[in-house]
Amino acid sequence: MEGMNQSMVSEFVFLGLTNSWDIQLFLFVFSSMFYVASMTGNSLIVFTVASDPHLHSPMYFLLANLSFIDLGVSSVIAPKMIYDLFRKHKVISFRGCVTQIFFIHFIGGVEMVLLIAMAFDRYVAICKPLHYLIIMSPRMCILFIVASWVVGFMHSLVQLAFVVNLPFCGPNVLDSFYCDFPRFIKLACIDTYRLKLLVLVNSGFMSVGSFFILIISYVVIIFIVHKHSSSGSSKALSTLSAHVMVVVLFFGPVMFIYTWPSSFTHLDKFLPIFDAIVTPFLNPVIYTFRNQEMKMAMMRVLRQIMGYRQIIKHLHSDQS
Ligand SMILES: *[C@@H]1O[C@H](CO)[C@@H](O)[C@H](O)[C@H]1NC(C)=O
Repeated sequence: MEGMNQSMVSEFVFLGLTNSWDIQLFLFVFSSMFYVASMTGNSLIVFTVASDPHLHSPMYFLLANLSFIDLGVSSVIAPKMIYDLFRKHKVISFRGCVTQIFFIHFIGGVEMVLLIAMAFDRYVAICKPLHYLIIMSPRMCILFIVASWVVGFMHSLVQLAFVVNLPFCGPNVLDSFYCDFPRFIKLACIDTYRLKLLVLVNSGFMSVGSFFILIISYVVIIFIVHKHSSSGSSKALSTLSAHVMVVVLFFGPVMFIYTWPSSFTHLDKFLPIFDAIVTPFLNPVIYTFRNQEMKMAMMRVLRQIMGYRQIIKHLHSDQS
């Protein structure tokens, strides 16, 4: 913490994504819509799984945990970005920036482990159906959840350990719309070559590693499903393709940002929009709306909420 007080930079300036008014307006509408939709969709999933005893199974518990984390994913970057869109001078305090970096990596780490847990869950359900409830016991689920939080926290802590003592001596302009870690360390007034290597190892290997674990496990599952192609196989394939889609959408931008060797391009400035705004919205859509059981449970929850409102309205009209 000492290092932070000594540094001469007290705030950072974001250049944002564009100066064009039209694109800004588009981004404003697009991001706000996605933000509201993902907050609503994910809250609804968490609430539905918690309140519906039909959905008390490992798959739905993991899904609800993913939705819970997605509430965080959408809130780390999007609100500040939307708020900044039409401001000329987009600034963030030093502490704000470090906090953002901390939460981005924390939540990102949790999400990666959760996605692996969900892949494992599907593997057991499809390839070892008779042992499903024994292997995916409540203890196992809790173990996965705890592991995801611990991994996220450790990953983020390592990231922070690199930055707290970095000297910042003047340059404070980030060509981005959030505190992007690679761009952030580039502003430090030391040779950041070794630091960049550490980032590559920490974030790059972690994302590429998880990505390959996930893709390989899905390939194995799809292969096994294909081999005993029975009546259930097309349903399993559609579930699996949904999972693969989420994995690619989530990891694609992350891997590009942290492992692309060349200096910054226009593409990697826009790519984070996917992870910050689009994927938290897609998770509920992809996992939920193709799932009959979940859809019906959501309908029940919505009907209940509507029912309460009706009752409250009646009570009010009776009183007046
Ligand atoms: C996350 O998973 C655990 C373990 O299965 C479960 O008890 C908990 O309710 C889930 N959390 C949320 C927010 O759904």
